[in-house]
Parts: sequence; structure tokens; C-alpha cells
Amino acid sequence: MKVGFKSMTCAEVDALVVNLVENKLTTPNEALNKSIKMLVDRELFAGKEGEVYTFTRENNETLQTVILVGLGKEENLSLEDFRKVAGNAIKKCIELKLNKVFLRIPEVKTLEASEIAKAMTYGAVLGNYTFDKYKTSKKEAKEIEVSIGAHGVNDETVEEMVKSIQEGREIAEGVIIARNLVNEPSNVLYPETLANEAIKISKESGFDIEVFGLDKIKELKMEAFYEVSKGSEKEPKLIVMRYFGNKDNKEDILGLVGKGLTYDSGGYSIKPTAGMDTMKSDMGGAAAVIGAMSIIAKRKLKINVVTVIASCENLISGNAYKPGEIIGSMAGKTIEVLNTDAEGRLTLADAVHYIIEKENAKEIIDVATLTGAALVALGETTTAVITNNSEFYKELKEVSDYTGEKVWELPAFDDYKKLIKSDIADLKNIGGKFAGTITAGLFIKEFVQDKPWLHLDIAGTSWSSSKSDYGIKGGTGAPVSTLYELAKKKQSK
Ligand code: BES
Ligand code: ZN
Ligand code: ZN
Repeated sequence: MKVGFKSMTCAEVDALVVNLVENKLTTPNEALNKSIKMLVDRELFAGKEGEVYTFTRENNETLQTVILVGLGKEENLSLEDFRKVAGNAIKKCIELKLNKVFLRIPEVKTLEASEIAKAMTYGAVLGNYTFDKYKTSKKEAKEIEVSIGAHGVNDETVEEMVKSIQEGREIAEGVIIARNLVNEPSNVLYPETLANEAIKISKESGFDIEVFGLDKIKELKMEAFYEVSKGSEKEPKLIVMRYFGNKDNKEDILGLVGKGLTYDSGGYSIKPTAGMDTMKSDMGGAAAVIGAMSIIAKRKLKINVVTVIASCENLISGNAYKPGEIIGSMAGKTIEVLNTDAEGRLTLADAVHYIIEKENAKEIIDVATLTGAALVALGETTTAVITNNSEFYKELKEVSDYTGEKVWELPAFDDYKKLIKSDIADLKNIGGKFAGTITAGLFIKEFVQDKPWLHLDIAGTSWSSSKSDYGIKGGTGAPVSTLYELAKKKQSK
């Protein structure tokens, strides 16, 4: 999708999306104002939130569809509203076969026009996203050309707008990378092909990558990771991506770790069928960190980021690990495996230890589809967070308020720790019936030493069971944009 900037003009487009704040139902275009007024008088449109009124008119010898979109009260508007509005507008244009679209930025006192432009670009590009590569008969959709614009802006603002539209599009492209990886089925996407995709993306975006196989994983003594991978014939891969945009402070390294289970059957603690059909998405954390890396590198942020993915499949075979076994880990801690379906924390334990010891990460964020309990607690809208550092969480929360990707901290009180103490090993990999998201997080905490750490459980947020304003049923790409914005905020000035 092409997205550009235009100063307010109604000509030459076949769809005019007029976003209107309640009580400010006028535009610089007199003819349009007349139509709006008639609709208002007949009580067909009032600019209330979620209201849409579509009509077609003749404009310069061509047909033009006008889509009036109500935004509701100005004081309640957020950037997320504009992402949604743009996503829905694009969906409507696709439905009506309109390929040249103009999206109007209204004047909003509390929001900068360039921020609205960025948000609308993001929503529009993602609203246009589909995953239909496996459909043998599909309509070849025409490429949609979108221009976003406002009335009466000065040259300086125009320049800013063009830049923020570019940024919005690049962020959305990173989100699409993550969505595509998550939506790809596990017969196509397995550790080796995930690594190949990451290599391709590293070349396009400009970061370094190294992929290690079984020999190196054994040499590194990543025993917990290896044990999870053993039941599959597919070789596990340790994917390490490095981007050094702040060469003056080489020691300052942000470490991102993504859970990379390309399929999770549960292993011998096998999942019921209904719980297994979406388990190709158990690499949502890996997808998110790859997507974020691509934007960070493309936009050349002044920050050092290293990303680690311990990728494998959790399957059943004569060689698979079994409940009751005691296994080791790269950190040297022993773990009693009481449930082979709690495999993510085992792979992550080694991945976080690796990123601290071998890659020198100073702060760590792990992103993982870790527990069904996160879905039970917070649903599909909010990522559950466990941390050992409230300042770090505050930074995340601020960024998340800006990106609209919601997060919520769960407590990590020491009282919960006894739930993962084993009678016969250092730790056990499940904490019992209660507080599943917390005990999973605390398990990983045992491996992050004293480093500031955020654990993002995206089991609920990385996969959507239904389509949304700018998403489809399937991978959401969360929390790519939050990871990018957090890295951007952490840049050296
Ligand atoms: N990959 C799952 C978590 C999950 C569940 C992600 C639903 C997305 C949607 C994870 O490996 C898992 O199976 N966790 C177990 C842990 C339990 C055995 C302690 C779970 O949540 O049931
Ligand atoms: Zn599992
Ligand atoms: Zn899993």
C-alpha cells in the first residue's frame, strides 16, 4: 500500500474519508459542508463516535464516494481512535472497491496533527493486511493508494507529516512481519525456516544475525532448551540477532528474548485438540522481537539491541522428555519437569541466561506466549507483565499508553516463590493450579540475575480469535510497536 501526504484537496480520489469531530461538522469545502448540513438536519449523521455515513456524488466528471466518519467528542479522542478509524475506513474502501483514498485529519486540540497522521497510517496499512496466500482462488486486489492530509498546515508541519507517515508505515511493516510469521502454519514454519526468514529480514533491515544448531546448543550446555526440543525431528535453532546503533556506548545493550516454539503440542502432557489448533502461534514472542528488530535497524535507532530466540517444537516421540524427569540448564540450576506443556519457561531460562552471559545484555525484555492463565486473567486485549524493576515497568507502561497496546503488571511477591520450589531439584516447572502467569514469570526471574527485566506474557494478545478494527483473525503482531517505541525512547540523545 502506498501512503503519502496531501494538503486538503478533494480532487482526484475515488474515496474521501471525512473524519469529523462532534460539534465541528465543517470542512474547508463548501459543497461538502452543504451535504453534511443536510444530513445533520435530517438526523442522518451527527458525528457521534462510531457513526459512518456513506454517499456517492459527482466530482469533476467522476464518481466520488464520501465516507463521513464520526469521531465523537474531541476531548475523548486518542491516537488509538485514529488507528481504528483508519483501519475501518480502509476495510470499507476495499469492500466498495475504491482504490484512491483520501483520509482527512481533523483539527484536534489535544493531539498533534503529525501524530494523528502516523497513527492513521499505521491503522490504514494494517487494516489492509490479509493472510490469503494459501487460498488457490483469490481476487487480485488492486493496490490501494492512500493520501492523508489536513487543511491549512504550514510547510514545517507538512515536512513533519511526511516524516511521521513514513514512520507509521515502517512500524506497520514490522508488525506485518510478525503477523505473517505467526500466521504461517507449522509445516512451513519450523526452527530452520524461521531462522531463514530472520536471515532474510536481517539483510533487508540491516542487522547482523547468527544461527546456531544442535552442536552449538549442546556445547553451550543449554540443557533445558535441548530437552524441550528432543521430541521433534526438526533441529532446534538458537537465533541471535545483533544491532549496534550506539557504538559510543557498546556496553549498553538492551536484550530482547522471544519464545520461539514453532509448535506446542504439550508433549507427553498433551493438550486437548481444541487447545492445539492455534499452537503454531507459540512463536509469537519470536515474531514480535524479529518485527521490532527490523524497525529498529531500518530506522537506524541510536541504541544497541541484541535479540535471542531459542526455537524448537514441543512434540511426542520415543526421544521426547517426560513428566517426572529432572533436567539441567545453562545456568546450572536443576529443574524437575512436572508438566511437559510448561516448556516455554524452560527454553526461556536458557535464552535469558545466554543473552546475559554471552551477549552482555544489561536490561532484558522477554516476550512469550507463556500461559493460558494470562488469557484467563486479562483476555485478548492486555499483555500481562512481571518485572523485578518498577522503573523499567513505568517506562513500558508509558510507551504502551502511547501505542495503545495495553499492558498490566501482575505482582511478583516472594510468597509465590515457594510454589516453584521442588522437593528434589532446585526448581519445578509448574506452580500448581493458581497464579499460573505469575509462577511462570517467577520461574524466568530465577535466571535473570540482578538485571532489570520485564516479562511480557502475550498468550492473550498475540493472537486474535476474531477480526478487529485493524486486524484479522490470527496473529496481531503485538507488541512490536511497543518494543520499537521503547527502544526509540531509550536511544542515546
Ligand atoms: N503455549 C502455551 C501457552 C498458551 C496457551 C499460549 C494458550 C497461547 C494460548 C504454554 O506452553 C502452555 O502450554 N502453558 C501451560 C502451562 C501449565 C502447564 C502450567 C498452560 O498455560 O496451560
Ligand atoms: Zn506448552
Ligand atoms: Zn508453549
